[in-house]
Amino acid sequence: MDNFFKAKKKISHFDLKNYKQIAQGKDGRIYSLTSDKCVKFFFREDTCKKEYEALKLGQKTEVIPRVYESGDNYIVMEFVKGVSLAHHMKKNGYIDKELTRKILFVLNELKRVGFKRLDTEIRHLLLNKQGQFKVIDHKRAFSTKTSVPIKLIKGLKKYGLEDQFLSHVQRMQPLLYNNWKDKL
Ligand SMILES: Nc1ncnc2c1ncn2[C@@H]1O[C@H](COP(=O)(O)OP(=O)(O)O)[C@@H](O)[C@H]1O
Ligand SMILES: [Mg+2]
Repeated sequence: MDNFFKAKKKISHFDLKNYKQIAQGKDGRIYSLTSDKCVKFFFREDTCKKEYEALKLGQKTEVIPRVYESGDNYIVMEFVKGVSLAHHMKKNGYIDKELTRKILFVLNELKRVGFKRLDTEIRHLLLNKQGQFKVIDHKRAFSTKTSVPIKLIKGLKKYGLEDQFLSHVQRMQPLLYNNWKDKL
């Protein structure tokens, strides 16, 4: 297996000079390493630690990217090739039962592996070529406690798809829907 940063404790921008930056978030920059690996280079070590802890636990589920290497300020992980749920909704304009089932599967997997935040943002749910969702950006997995996907539903609302999604949930998982409905 490739070892990109030779088990360094910390990397700097010199270590990244041969790689292409593909995104910048609030907590760090993402660089592509190969066609299926990327590195998240964090601005703060405490954020890196939080995200690493979550990703480590997340290795028990296929809905979270694989992790390959890490240090105090970086994590090498699977590069998810796909479009965000936000992008997907914008393009398609509807949410069907199949997509709802996939979203509920993700939320259930977050619960199963032990996350406290059973929620994500529509820009952090990436749909790969195989049609599976993978969730990225997990720094809040334990610090935010929520059993209702408030942020996710807020995102659906932005595209006018909240009611469509919730009516599928109501039919597919009535008990779950009942748990959510008073908190939405
Ligand atoms: N594993 C990944 N695979 C593909 N794209 C990713 C991956 N991780 C991050 N990205 C891209 O980088 C952006 C920022 O990453 P994110 O983890 O959300 O950073 P931040 O914590 O700063 O918000 C994401 O919106 C996504 O476009
Ligand atoms: Mg983010």
